[in-house]
Order: sequence, then structure tokens, then C-alpha cells
Amino acid sequence: MLTSRIVVDRDFVISELDRRVFGTFVEHMGRCVYGGIYEPGHPTADKDGFRQDVLELTRELGPTIVRYPGGNFLSGYNWEDGVGPKEQRPTRLDLAWGSTETNEFGTNEFITWCRTADVEPMFAVNLGTRGPDEARHLLEYCNHPGGTYYSDLRRSHGYEKPHGIKFWCLGNEMDGPWQICQKTAQEYGRVAKETAKVMRWVDGDLQLAACGSSQRAMPTYASWEYEVLDHCFNEVDFISLHAYFRNDSNDIQEFFTVIEDLDSFIKEVAAIADAVAAKRRSPKRIMLSLDEWNVWYKAHTPAHLRKPGWPKAPPLIEEIYNFEDALVVGGALITMINNADRVKAACLAQLVNVIGPIMTETGGAAWRQTIFHPFAQASRHARGQVLRTKVQSETFSTKTHPNASLLLSSVIHDPDTGAVTILALNRSATDEMQLEVELRGLGEGRKVSLASELHHSDIKATNTKDSPNAVAPKERTDVSIEKGVVSAKLKPLSWNVIVTAPA
Ligand code: AHR
Repeated sequence: MLTSRIVVDRDFVISELDRRVFGTFVEHMGRCVYGGIYEPGHPTADKDGFRQDVLELTRELGPTIVRYPGGNFLSGYNWEDGVGPKEQRPTRLDLAWGSTETNEFGTNEFITWCRTADVEPMFAVNLGTRGPDEARHLLEYCNHPGGTYYSDLRRSHGYEKPHGIKFWCLGNEMDGPWQICQKTAQEYGRVAKETAKVMRWVDGDLQLAACGSSQRAMPTYASWEYEVLDHCFNEVDFISLHAYFRNDSNDIQEFFTVIEDLDSFIKEVAAIADAVAAKRRSPKRIMLSLDEWNVWYKAHTPAHLRKPGWPKAPPLIEEIYNFEDALVVGGALITMINNADRVKAACLAQLVNVIGPIMTETGGAAWRQTIFHPFAQASRHARGQVLRTKVQSETFSTKTHPNASLLLSSVIHDPDTGAVTILALNRSATDEMQLEVELRGLGEGRKVSLASELHHSDIKATNTKDSPNAVAPKERTDVSIEKGVVSAKLKPLSWNVIVTAPA
């Protein structure tokens, strides 16, 4: 039996947790929009064509903010194609994914969907084929009250009130050779600065994110972040990070260390942003938006990325998630939460079908993939202040990581309700772990209000339409708390949520 111990103190706070770390992403790609959130004619579709079964699962998943409309799709997108009377909207070739885009669904439909799902929209402007001019027009269309060409155009389309979109991404993965109109850091830094400048002149109350590297392995990584921010440091609030985790060696211990790599990635990008600040002797802190992250490696071949013949909404990158993927997603969430002082937004990519926590059949059922569960639980229970954890745990070593803790954990205290949530991942493949968590300064009269465990004996187990709950959290009643110390046994390879509340 492994033993591990966590000590926290109510006064040792890393940061308030920004709830926007529980974001997701909807791109015009594959069956994410068409056949995912939107499918007129589906038995559950409402008057707007929104699938109610997907909406219900979205509410249960609990995203707080949803990024739209891409992704690589963004860099060839004309936003004007997706507004106004549907019968007049043009059908276009989507070069990013080799698909035909009907534009049946666009900006206003997405905003209506967000209001129905009760999530905040995060919009992105095309800085591939387009630039500051289209960005300022889109912003005027969305956020200006009226009395100008684009705001009145919105009103004429039936949306009297401005959409009030606050969070905007300046392009997508502009460093990638796969991107439509890839840019150098200098080209992108300049255009991001000028776009941000004019966007702020249209609406002074925005939060703007510049594109960081499209992955930590990019050859230009780090110098890209420095040079881009050196251009647009004064104009932006965020730099983005994208991270897709792979299990290439098919070794769970090695797979787990993508979480250590994510932690390094976050700390490196924060350090680079602070170096740009230091050059200016500036107290400003650029925050991090991990606006695409997930496990993605099985459905990552050229045949998954593109289908011949320019099809409409073909099935693309429909990754089937298994139990070990869910553990990695849980671990990544813990790492983001523990970096809450810098990670202020994050989007699990994507929401449905396309590397999604929700799967659907076009015309048929919708169900939860394995990764749905850690995300839904963290989003539901992790609220308030992230506490600094002093962790004592045995370690494991892999080829790339000689000294990784078997226990990964976050402790979050909600001062409004008094609740303390413990997220704990036992990364041992063989051993049960006896965990003790000492909650200092949080009152001795506490009770365990929820304890649940996500575990399966087969790390490759998946959820399917016919067996949608094969991998799902189970409530447990054997977690105790005495004099402010929580005791729990954690199964090998298990993701655990324990909530304590004042008795
Ligand atoms: O999420 C799928 C794709 O991954 C996005 O379109 C792109 O930004 C990233 O490379």
C-alpha cells in the first residue's frame, strides 16, 4: 500500500480559480457543428435546429466558455458568409479540412446556442486570409449597439441587442505550416498588435488573446512567444497555448508524464511573457489561455483529417476515448488548476464528435465519452480559491521523467460555501494508495459531502452507444474525515473527487 499526504492551509492561496478554465471549443470541422450541436430534423432538434440531447449533455459537462468558429477553419473564414437570410448564404470550399461549408450556421446561430446552453462565447478573428479590417467589422456587427452600417446589419438580421462578446482570439495557430496564410512571428506580431488596437477602439471592454505556438514541439517555440509578445505586449491580455497529448509508446506511466510536460509548458510561457514585461520594466502580467487541449493521437492520420470529394460535415478526427485517456484529462485539469495564477482560460478541444467528450450519431443517440467525466466533475466542484498543496508521495520514473509523483492533486476552497474540493489522481498502475489530507485553518467540524471514484479494471475500456456508462464515476461512502484530516484509499489508476463541507 502506498501512502501519501497533502497539507493545505486556508491562508496559503495560489489564486482565485478563473471559471473560464472549464471552456470547450466548437469549430466548423467534421460533425462538431453539423450533426453535433446543430441538426435540424433530428428527433430532439428545437425550433433553431439545436439538438436538445447534446444541449443537455453540454449542460451536464458544464463548460463556462466556448471558443468559435475555429481552429484551422478560421483562417479561411469570411464571417459575412454566415449571417443574414440562410437561403442567401454562399456555400464555400473549406480549405482547412477539405469540406464543403454551407454556412447554414454562423455567428448569430452560435450566440443563440450559447445563450441556450448558458455559456459565454469566445470568438476568434481570421488573421489568415483576412486582417484588422474584417476583425473590426465583425466586432462592430457583434458588439456595437446600433446606428452604424454593421451594427444595423445585425439588427436587420433580427438581433436588436448587441451580443456583448468579451473574449476574442487574434487568429489561430499562425506559426503552423498547415495554417492558411501561415505567418512569421514578426508578421503575426505586427498584425496582432494592429488588430488589437483597432478592436479596442471599436469596444474598449475586451479581453484579447494573441496566438502562442501551436505546440511546445514547434521549432520556433519560445522565440515565437517572445517575438509576438514583444510586438503586441501592450495591446493583448492573453497568450494562447495548444496541447494535444499522445500515447505513442502505449505505456501508461510514460503517457502520464504528458502532464509534467504541460506543467513545464505553462511555466515556460509564463516566464517568457514575464521576460517581455521585464524588458519594459512593466508590472503587467500576460495571462495564459490554453484554448485547445485534449488527448488526440488515435484519430490523427491523414485519412482522419480529410475525406475525398469535398463532403459536407464528414466524420473527422472522431477519437474514441478510453479510460486511460480520461485519467490523463483529469491529470491535465489538476495541472491547470494548480497554475490558476496564470492559466485564466482553457478550452477542451472540442465539444462534440471532433475529439469530443460528447459523441453523437447523426439522426440518432448522443452519449458521454470517458473524458466527459473528469471534466464535468472538476467544472462542477472546483470553485473558489486554489490552495497551495504540500504533497508527500512515492514517485515513479520513466525514460523521460525520472522522478514523477504518483499522486497528483488539487485542493480548492470555496469561501462562500466553505466547501473544500480535493481532486486526486493515483498514477500507480499496481498499488492502492492511502491518502491523508490535512485541512488546516478550515475548521475541524467538517463532513464528507461527496466522494466519488473513476476507475475501470481495463485501461482501454471505452463508452459506446450500446454501453454508454462502462466508464463512469461511482459514489463511495468509505471516505472519512476526523479533526480536519480526510482519509481515503485510492485504487490504482483512479481519479477521485472528495468534497468536504462545514458540518
Ligand atoms: O482541434 C482540431 C485542430 O487542431 C484545430 O483546428 C487546430 O487549431 C489544431 O491544430
